[in-house]
Amino acid sequence: MNILILGGGGREHALAWAVMQNPKCDRLIVAPGNAGIAAIADCADLDIMNGAAVVAFSEENAIDFVIIGPEAPLVAGVADRLREAGILVFGPGAAVARLEASKSFTKDICDAAGAPTAAYGHFTDTEAAKDYVRAQGAPIVVKADGLAAGKGVVVAMTGDEALTAIDDMFGGAFGGAGAEVVIEEFMAGEEASYFVLCDGETALPMGTAQDHKRVGEGDTGPNTGGMGAYSPAPVLTDAVATKALEEIVKPILAEMAKRGTPYQGVLYAGLMIKDGQPRLVEINVRFGDPECQVLMLRLGAQVLDLLLACAEGRLERAQVNWADDHAMTVVMAANGYPGDYGKGSVIKGLDALPEDSFNMVFHAGTREVEGRITASGGRVLNVTARGGTLQEASMRAYAMVDQINWPEGFFRRDIGWRAL
Ligand code: AMP
Ligand code: GLY
Repeated sequence: MNILILGGGGREHALAWAVMQNPKCDRLIVAPGNAGIAAIADCADLDIMNGAAVVAFSEENAIDFVIIGPEAPLVAGVADRLREAGILVFGPGAAVARLEASKSFTKDICDAAGAPTAAYGHFTDTEAAKDYVRAQGAPIVVKADGLAAGKGVVVAMTGDEALTAIDDMFGGAFGGAGAEVVIEEFMAGEEASYFVLCDGETALPMGTAQDHKRVGEGDTGPNTGGMGAYSPAPVLTDAVATKALEEIVKPILAEMAKRGTPYQGVLYAGLMIKDGQPRLVEINVRFGDPECQVLMLRLGAQVLDLLLACAEGRLERAQVNWADDHAMTVVMAANGYPGDYGKGSVIKGLDALPEDSFNMVFHAGTREVEGRITASGGRVLNVTARGGTLQEASMRAYAMVDQINWPEGFFRRDIGWRAL
């Protein structure tokens, strides 16, 4: 089959790598792709936010299956346009993508489904929001309702911090995303990510992971898109995962189906786990980045069969074959990230690294310029490895990191510290 993947980060490189291993894949195009993806697939210049353009491109190139990586095209309804045109697609439509695009919508769905999550209020008015904070006290969590690239959340340890966050959000610090604000109970515990494929009716768990959102070692400093991840997540034991599936994921799927908007794609549940009880922090309607990289390295070629079964409504008869293994990815980012950073620096040493089912450097933000790999984003490389233990995966990943010569970049040396 001819397959099109939308996106151009480390997540999409990992998806492309897994899909390419499967003999069902004849031709793979990734739009826009990046320098790492260009080494294994064709890259195309295409406006992936424009549903009509994606449909036209798919028809011109006889694409049989489209896999949508990032949330923005999902929120924009690109999956809907493809389905209307009769093109097979992995990823939910805009009505379901609201679960990621609006935190208050997700809270309403949790209420209707009885799914455990933090107590909350939502506000469009500064004074009402502040009164709620004064009544509840700190710690408390203030969130811009809309998509804010992972930056619209303030975990306030004091009341003053929360009041300042409310002023910032209503003051336009996150643009339209902050026109509505959700204020939540602070949940203590350990966070983990749970990935479940859904075809509207059947839910098939695909794996667990934990990521490190803070930029600094020991999980300190500002939030980022993620500085590393590992899979499986030890805190998501079978018992906790079963609870999450039965108490959170399945009731939410049932509620979405009841509303006439069945969930088709991957449901990424961000969970807070305390004393063996998971509660929902957030839903994303796509794979995590960089969590996808560790999941793909562990699953390999079967990923395409699973995504196809999901898109075609055949998950009831599908199964995930797990090896008893562990994977880790270490993010290399440009100096300055998540603040301002430079672009265009040259990365050396990549050619000498192994590329096999145990070791892969997925590219997140790279561009080839005159035959050299250069940095073109904040998160630039995802150095990913697999092993029989997390320790082994970690040793392999850092052995590769240490061979990469890129003075303009940095990474965390402690990915996986909680589990190790
Ligand atoms: P979100 O964008 O909703 O995932 O929030 C970003 C991060 O803020 C989460 O990964 C958590 O670390 C933290 N967070 C969000 N909501 C809560 C909460 N209710 N209690 C504690 N921490 C939270
Ligand atoms: N790594 C967090 C995310 O993809 O949202």
